[in-house]
Amino acid sequence: MDAHKLVEQLGEKKKQIYAQGGEKAISKQHSKGRLTARERIDLLVDPGSFEEFDMFVKTRSTYFGLDKKNIPADGVVTGLATVNGRRIALYAQDFTVVGGSLGEMHALKIAKMQDMAMKLGIPFIGMNDSGGARIQEGVDSLRGYGEIFIRNVRASGVIPQISLAMGPTAGGAVYSPAMMDFIIMTKHAMMYITGPEVVKAVTGEVVSHEDLGGGLVHNQKSGVAHFLAEDDKEAIEKLKVLLSYLPDNYLQTPPFVETGDSVEREIPELIDLVPADPNKGYDVKEVIKSVLDNGEFFEVQELYARNAVVGFGRLGGNVVGVVANQARYLAGVLDINSSDKIARFVRFCDAFNIPLITFVDTPGYLPGVAQEHGGVIRHGAKVLYAYSEATVPKITVILRKSYGGAYIAMCSRHLGADAVFAFPQAEIAVMGAEGAANIIFRKEIKTAEDPDKLRAEKIEEYRKEFANPYRAAERGYIDDVINPKDTRKIVAKTLNYLRSKSESVPEKKHGNIPL
Ligand code: HXC
Repeated sequence: MDAHKLVEQLGEKKKQIYAQGGEKAISKQHSKGRLTARERIDLLVDPGSFEEFDMFVKTRSTYFGLDKKNIPADGVVTGLATVNGRRIALYAQDFTVVGGSLGEMHALKIAKMQDMAMKLGIPFIGMNDSGGARIQEGVDSLRGYGEIFIRNVRASGVIPQISLAMGPTAGGAVYSPAMMDFIIMTKHAMMYITGPEVVKAVTGEVVSHEDLGGGLVHNQKSGVAHFLAEDDKEAIEKLKVLLSYLPDNYLQTPPFVETGDSVEREIPELIDLVPADPNKGYDVKEVIKSVLDNGEFFEVQELYARNAVVGFGRLGGNVVGVVANQARYLAGVLDINSSDKIARFVRFCDAFNIPLITFVDTPGYLPGVAQEHGGVIRHGAKVLYAYSEATVPKITVILRKSYGGAYIAMCSRHLGADAVFAFPQAEIAVMGAEGAANIIFRKEIKTAEDPDKLRAEKIEEYRKEFANPYRAAERGYIDDVINPKDTRKIVAKTLNYLRSKSESVPEKKHGNIPL
């Protein structure tokens, strides 16, 4: 046989596979505002860098004549590539081929890439667009999910795992993304365990796909997703930015970038930005941006539990993870959802050698029956656990209020902060002046000739005595009270000193974080 002929035949075979599910299916996909698997890969990877694996894989299943059916690449495109010069292992499910449904071989292709990502110590990226378990393949497709899940878990904390939900992600398909580090979801993607038809049949509720599990729902309400994108293109752009903040694996630090922003830069506007009046609101994101290089802050879970703010930035070119209370929402209280948000982010940063900077301004944990019955004890404990467990450099800046349990939780010295700074307007105490005065001077106030006058005096007395950073500084719980304009300089300098931090934790199998 002529080798040229064989090469020609190979080209023909590949052409057929590249044709995916056919023109009709591709145009249906486009009509929904969604790209195909191969188009998405083209947008993501550096030109010419993609090395596809397993394009000739076919289903082994003979049920319903599946083996006789043309299922190009078994409905998923997998391989290795670079993104801005950095290596990744990826898969992209192809909805134009039997709805991107996950059969056994489809799953094994994904699992092969997971193994590859682990062997190479590089991020694993999944682009999801699938009708879930391939129904015709029965238990083989369920086995396929299991093979993926166990690898997700084994890879957790070893390599970054990021999922993009770009179309239906239904049934068992949701759990691989859920066990990865981040989910970027387009507005029109859907994630749910059971779709609207099943919901209607079981509970009688009538709900659309989008209202049940659309991108907005999971970014705003459930907290399942971490980033919302208008469309596939924006999702891929967000992925590229996210990757720029992450190391390839847990043994590396994230890449240094020369940002051109001097760490000596002063921030005089910070003096006015954080009002001394504890009842006035402000946007903590302004504080964060003013401190970070070039004002660039890549926020994670922007729409969820907005009373807390978490995300990535750079300081002096080094990546940092930022956690802050947002005084603008619910006065920056800690509650069930913000605790989950903070704890998960802190643990991610700790796993991947990203130093933590925490900006504190919180009146405490949110009181209420709903919070208590919802398990605020269990959820709040996650924040304590995550900060205590984290061994990366930890710097805390107390901007204003830092009361009670929340003072301890928000990366206090006592949970292992390496350096704690406070603004002069910081208030560190068990509780606010009014509540405290009412409790400790109750008897005097009750029996006073003019209770209101005495109450006001006692509140003022308490405020003078405790509503400042100096009692904590006297004990060495705060290392310095700083001029807000020097925040960037001081935090960057300290971070540099902490670079060689090495802290060991007791050897164990793993801890038992409250879940
Ligand atoms: C086999 C599937 C499929 C599936 C879709 N298709 N889902 N084939 N198994 N799970 C096929 C369709 O038959 C169709 O084939 C093609 O993909 C495109 O699907 P459409 O329905 O035409 O697309 P659309 O109208 O956009 O609707 C998309 C959809 C719907 C909402 C995802 O297809 C759907 O509801 N699918 C089933 C979802 C589901 O229940 N999955 C199982 C979950 S159970 P043709 O040949 O007509 O083009 C599960 C358990 C795993 O995942 C548990 C692990 C722990």
